[in-house]
Amino acid sequence: MSQAPRRQSWAGGARKRPCRYDPAPASALLTLALRAHRRGEWPEALALYVRALEDPPVSLDAALNLGSLAAHLGHRALAQRALALALPLALADARALRDLAIAHATLGELGTARALLSHCVALPDAPEGARLALIRVCLALGDSALAIPHSREAVARNPDSVDAWLALHRAVFDDRALSPAIESAARALALAPEDPRVQRCLAHATALQFHAPRDLSDQDDALQFCIQNREIHTRAFASKHHAIAHARDARVLDGPIVELGVRHGVSTRVLAQAQGAQVHAFDSFEGLPAAWNSLPLGAFTTRGHLPSVPPNVTLYVGWFEQTLPTYCAHEESSPSMIHVDSDVYESARCALSHLGPRVRPGCVLLFDEYLGNAGWRDEEHRALTEAIVRFHWSITWLSLSWLTGQAALRVTAVGDT
Ligand SMILES: C[S@@+](CC[C@H](N)C(=O)[O-])C[C@H]1O[C@@H](n2cnc3c(N)ncnc32)[C@H](O)[C@@H]1O
Repeated sequence: MSQAPRRQSWAGGARKRPCRYDPAPASALLTLALRAHRRGEWPEALALYVRALEDPPVSLDAALNLGSLAAHLGHRALAQRALALALPLALADARALRDLAIAHATLGELGTARALLSHCVALPDAPEGARLALIRVCLALGDSALAIPHSREAVARNPDSVDAWLALHRAVFDDRALSPAIESAARALALAPEDPRVQRCLAHATALQFHAPRDLSDQDDALQFCIQNREIHTRAFASKHHAIAHARDARVLDGPIVELGVRHGVSTRVLAQAQGAQVHAFDSFEGLPAAWNSLPLGAFTTRGHLPSVPPNVTLYVGWFEQTLPTYCAHEESSPSMIHVDSDVYESARCALSHLGPRVRPGCVLLFDEYLGNAGWRDEEHRALTEAIVRFHWSITWLSLSWLTGQAALRVTAVGDT
């Protein structure tokens, strides 16, 4: 079963493998650090990069590889110090600037990443991948105004690039005016008729346009699910930011917004823009409690570092199974919205089994990884299906975003349990 082309990875800059930027021969310490990094001996690599940076002048290779690796491993403070050292040296080097920006994106610092990538694409030797990274960052920030012209520029500069046409497809995707998205996917298909990513993007947009699962007979079932469960008001988005904002603004109840899975606080800050609402945000800040898809146990850890969040956000630190019972015992109000972004089935099940009894008609639920991962029917979908049965919920779908994997719904009725 093929997946939607969507999970955005900033890997490439915040990479597991090192990159050379400076043509000068590496010092002895830097050589050792690069070797350890290449072998996946990450603690050794971090320590050797730090030592290589102790003696001036600052080496761009040491600072940027350290910053990228530390960001990838969740060592936030170390990454920020190294990236600050790399910045002045990277400003004139397009490749280094791109990787610096991607490392900042890995830390959830999307505004900084956008600024650096905007600078990077203006350099004469900017790699084309930098513009695609800029488009991804803009979409993650909900900044279509910048994503669209950069996508048009990407296809103008490189009309034979399937990735550029797919970036344009996402940037112009509007479920109420689908022609530009269909046209860009059709241009990608003309270049790569056998590419399943492209086939599915076109099939998805066409099916939305004609309100029917056309040409989906052999397509994956997540795509079928989206098309078949659509109601007249069900929206579809190509950016996580837009799907979160839509669900947030669809709230009709007065209670708090509850978020499960915070990490660097990217989605938390979008939720916190809700007028007059409190956000109660839960995370261990120790990463995933189990391996999930291709990610290992502990992926997304911030090593206990808490993100900076607006004053209307309260962070509840710890594993859900410990924090949610205490929360439910003390918090009397019903949530107006629940955002589940904790990836693994057990975490979603735990969240819904504690919060489910609090859910009242009108409550909005948003799932971040609902659709399209290889085992999606056994993950958030399964946890929701079980909650619907257990709490006798009736629901209506607010959005089914095959391109991002998100699904949002409103609970319209709650039965006796
Ligand atoms: C994908 S990240 C969240 C991303 C975040 N919402 C954003 O927009 O950047 C998933 C988070 O869920 C947390 N998590 C998963 N299961 C958990 C559990 N059972 N208890 C506490 N935290 C959990 C992990 O620590 C991780 O930070």
